[in-house]
Amino acid sequence: MHKRIKYGMVGGGQGAFIGAVHRMAARIDDQFELVAGALSSNAERAAASAAEVGIDPSRSYASFEDMAKAEAARQDGIKAVSVVTPNYMHFPVAKAFLQAGISVICDKPLTATLNDALALGEIAKLSKAEFILTHNYSGYPMVRQAREIVQSGQIGKVRRVQVEYVQDWLSAAVDAAENKQADWRADPKRSGLGGAIADIGTHAFQLTNFISGVAVREIAADLTRFVDGRLVDDDAHMLLRFENGAKGYLWASQVAPGNENNLRIRIYGEKGGIDWSQENPNQLWVSMLGEPKHLLTRGGHGTSEVAANVTRVPAGHPEGYLEGFATIYNEAADIIRNGRNPDCLSPTIDEGILGMRFIDAAIRSSNADAKWTPIDA
Ligand SMILES: NC(=O)c1ccc[n+]([C@@H]2O[C@H](COP(=O)([O-])OP(=O)(O)OC[C@H]3O[C@@H](n4cnc5c(N)ncnc54)[C@H](O)[C@@H]3O)[C@@H](O)[C@H]2O)c1
Repeated sequence: MHKRIKYGMVGGGQGAFIGAVHRMAARIDDQFELVAGALSSNAERAAASAAEVGIDPSRSYASFEDMAKAEAARQDGIKAVSVVTPNYMHFPVAKAFLQAGISVICDKPLTATLNDALALGEIAKLSKAEFILTHNYSGYPMVRQAREIVQSGQIGKVRRVQVEYVQDWLSAAVDAAENKQADWRADPKRSGLGGAIADIGTHAFQLTNFISGVAVREIAADLTRFVDGRLVDDDAHMLLRFENGAKGYLWASQVAPGNENNLRIRIYGEKGGIDWSQENPNQLWVSMLGEPKHLLTRGGHGTSEVAANVTRVPAGHPEGYLEGFATIYNEAADIIRNGRNPDCLSPTIDEGILGMRFIDAAIRSSNADAKWTPIDA
């Protein structure tokens, strides 16, 4: 009989953004059932939020510490927890649940500091529980197919990567009292030292690694705070040097008017190139040198098995953000039930640690006037 994995959530209370996305994604393939939560740092709001999403009051907790302890002690306790708090809380929450033997599905960036990330890596190694990081863009079918095209050598040796994740929602000073999401993101104590570089730059960096399969060796970064009084970068651009000699450019900005979630990646090799945009995710342009460029569509002719495996509805019926997220949840369910299969493509804690090394290197490079800086492995 199909048994759903009972899971809990920390963060994602009333007025929060990504917690609700996780709850929807967890339900799409019907592998999870939400039964517990510490949904807010405010006890009253946590209880009210839990009632709204159908969590029994006896399993709505005023703190994540209480939740980890109580759920680990129950016969029918949760097997997994989603961590959807501001960045600085990822470390203590993930640590508490991993140490209680409960698997963690955590949003990015992994932590607020590189030291926390390294410590969490050690804790995860010692835990019998699993860790999954929701770099959700690696769940899109056409991203998986782009990865296969590039890594099978179809476009030849990779020469260039152009990647950007550009938004406009922080173009002006935002009233922190009125915007919950902007409030903690602009505070280095809660977001970490990186602003745009951490919030969306890590997605662009992870996607670069995920599709190209070639490691970035060093970067020359220039991070800027364009809005007066802002304490973290709101725009980051950098040159990339890859281990195979390829070159690249990464731009992450939250101050580019007209851009919503404009994540685009282009990879060019000796024989061809690919071009994918998150705002039109069911399409993938593939160009082979000397041939007319062709458009692959999710579920359409030419869809590969790797893309078909994470496709739910026929071609022409759009899939997007929620389904990409759901693929990570679907794979998380398999990891939690059976252990991680080496072929599983869902992001690991090591990718999270690499993302933190990337932020750290970008800040050091920018502070040294865009000096070439290795991303220490
Ligand atoms: N993968 C993606 O596409 C994506 C998109 C947005 C945000 N995120 C990540 O998700 C995380 C949350 O971002 P958001 O925009 O949803 O933030 P948010 O401010 O909307 O929500 C954060 C929630 O965490 C709760 N919280 C804070 N401290 C807590 C504590 N000690 N115990 C319990 N709950 C606590 C808050 O009350 C709130 O409900 C961040 O790490 C962010 O980087 C990822």
